[in-house]
Amino acid sequence: MSSRLELTGISKTFQKGTLNEKVALDNITFTANPGDFVTVLGSNGAGKSTLFNAVLGIFLTDKGRILLDGEDITFKKQHKRAGGIGCLFQNPLRGTAPNMTIEENLALAYHRHSSYSFFAVNRRDADYFKEVLSTLGMGLENRLKTKMGVLSGGQRQAASLLMATVARPKLLLLDEHTASLDPATAEKVLAITKQIVEREKITTLMITHDMSYALNAGNRTIAMDGGRIVFDISGERREAMTPDDLIKAFRENSVNSLDDRTVLTKKPL
Ligand SMILES: Nc1ncnc2c1ncn2[C@@H]1O[C@H](COP(=O)(O)OP(=O)(O)OP(=O)(O)O)[C@@H](O)[C@H]1O
Ligand SMILES: [Mg+2]
Repeated sequence: MSSRLELTGISKTFQKGTLNEKVALDNITFTANPGDFVTVLGSNGAGKSTLFNAVLGIFLTDKGRILLDGEDITFKKQHKRAGGIGCLFQNPLRGTAPNMTIEENLALAYHRHSSYSFFAVNRRDADYFKEVLSTLGMGLENRLKTKMGVLSGGQRQAASLLMATVARPKLLLLDEHTASLDPATAEKVLAITKQIVEREKITTLMITHDMSYALNAGNRTIAMDGGRIVFDISGERREAMTPDDLIKAFRENSVNSLDDRTVLTKKPL
């Protein structure tokens, strides 16, 4: 489902009034249009994860408004937003039940909003899960009864991606979900990400430190620095960009530098 995410004047300061006071989000105004797949770059501590956490409702923001498909979710509790927002993080185990099978994890995600007993996976669901798992090309369709905890990092991220999207969320937030994987597996998980996002047409934001990923995936790239969005690039300008151009654009618009990870992992397109 394609939805619009509208952030207006979002600010968040941590540990206000102490020596450790930190302005993590500084008056962010941003709209992701229905079907946008936005890649998000930034220096360490730029506020990228904080922005996601604000949208997820992990804390309330100090100022501003968050609208999802026109609905004001600014003050909604996290679990009330969760139905509309799928998310995936760097740690492949976050958000999954390692002692439950792939099938049970998927059923839990699929029936999250109903009173359905997810432990009893019915035949129709099992067939559906098998079908969607087979599209990943990771052989998981034959491992429905395998416990999540024994899968490799890449298999877990691929399965988690399905869990995050199987209930067709309005919005998908990916926070460096390929960062802990080896390069070949990361490529594969990125390809799967593109495939799922395109198939389900979910409005998506993906944080990455990899410049080529930032350009290869999605239709739009934003960069954050010091709690602000410092650029927002799409269309022809983005099409013409190389990873080096992106680094240059960041340098020209930011106070902080991109961390070493970024430059070291940059690959030619
Ligand atoms: N719960 C918290 N309490 C206090 N400070 C926090 C909290 N969460 C984040 N911060 C601070 O807010 C700033 C932004 O952090 P955030 O995690 O959003 O950065 P990031 O852009 O995701 O960086 P990275 O690339 O390292 O993941 C940092 O200075 C961080 O230390
Ligand atoms: Mg982060």
